[in-house]
Amino acid sequence: MSQQVDQVRAVIWVEGALRLLDQRLLPLEQHYIVCTDVAGVAAGIRDMVVRGAPAIGVAAAYGVAMAVAARYAENGAGWRQAVEADLTLLAESRPTAVNLFWAIERMRALIEKLDGDPRQAVVAEACRIDAEDLAANRRMGELGAALIGARCAVMTHCNAGALATAGYGTALGVIRAAHAAGKVSQVYADETRPWLQGSRLTAWELLQDGIPVTLLADGAGAHLMKQGEVKWLIVGSDRIAANGDVCNKIGTYHAAITARYHGVKLMVVAPTSTIDMSLASGEEIPIEARDEDELLTFGGKQVAATGARAWNPVFDVTPAELVDAIVTERGVVLQPNAEKMAALMVE
Ligand code: MRU
Repeated sequence: MSQQVDQVRAVIWVEGALRLLDQRLLPLEQHYIVCTDVAGVAAGIRDMVVRGAPAIGVAAAYGVAMAVAARYAENGAGWRQAVEADLTLLAESRPTAVNLFWAIERMRALIEKLDGDPRQAVVAEACRIDAEDLAANRRMGELGAALIGARCAVMTHCNAGALATAGYGTALGVIRAAHAAGKVSQVYADETRPWLQGSRLTAWELLQDGIPVTLLADGAGAHLMKQGEVKWLIVGSDRIAANGDVCNKIGTYHAAITARYHGVKLMVVAPTSTIDMSLASGEEIPIEARDEDELLTFGGKQVAATGARAWNPVFDVTPAELVDAIVTERGVVLQPNAEKMAALMVE
């Protein structure tokens, strides 16, 4: 299947520094923040400069590499102990996307084995994590596009694209591959309140690659699905539990229920670094709650009635029974359950 070249890169390693495309400013401004230390990377993750589960993991891996270099310069042989505080700082930046913890643990496993000057080895490992994520996305693009039969409209939620990964994207990788194969008549993207990852990020990055996109208010999905044009809801994930429950941006669960009611299939596209086999079900996934001002204000201006409070969980869990396919770089799991997830992860 031909693969469309994607243009967007959110995380770029250049000569000892990390360039993060500031996703808070898109689409109006394309500005890279340069991080030269681990504190800058942790702040970039916490403050949503970089967001999206795999991109957070890749950024954290480079953050660890910078931390190791700094601690080695300061402490010599004592660097390994000193760097623990930096790993904790990174781990505390956001709670839900497991790719963050997966990347930190992978870097820690390497660190435990190193002797002598660790600097080259940690950078090489972070670069491998980065390259593997891009390769996984391209593979998932092929596998997911193959599931789409006749040309149809597809719908997505949040941004699970190049901006949320090392490049190409998970859900948007499938949409890119399916579009290149002529299988997509229309892409509908939820605007994704309150951060507007759909209207600001998904729309921008698809248009960069010449893929037309139509935005929807988050509440418009049921009415759209009722028309019959949309055959697939395609989303990414921040953490998938051992039984196949899928955590993703708030509103995904709502869209998944709507999809099942209307006979629209749900495809979740995520690398195995997003699968957390230590959690039996989605009930155990920590859900990030962000500041209520994200709902009470817009563009820094109050929009809600004075005195109103807001509840702002930013992820939700879709039960496995609502998922038709989980697409990973290792293969596709149809109608996921605990047995099928275990079989995928031992392969
Ligand atoms: O709060 P965000 O923007 O980091 O949330 C991102 C999402 O929910 C994405 O859908 C998910 O990380 C999958 S990205 C390939």
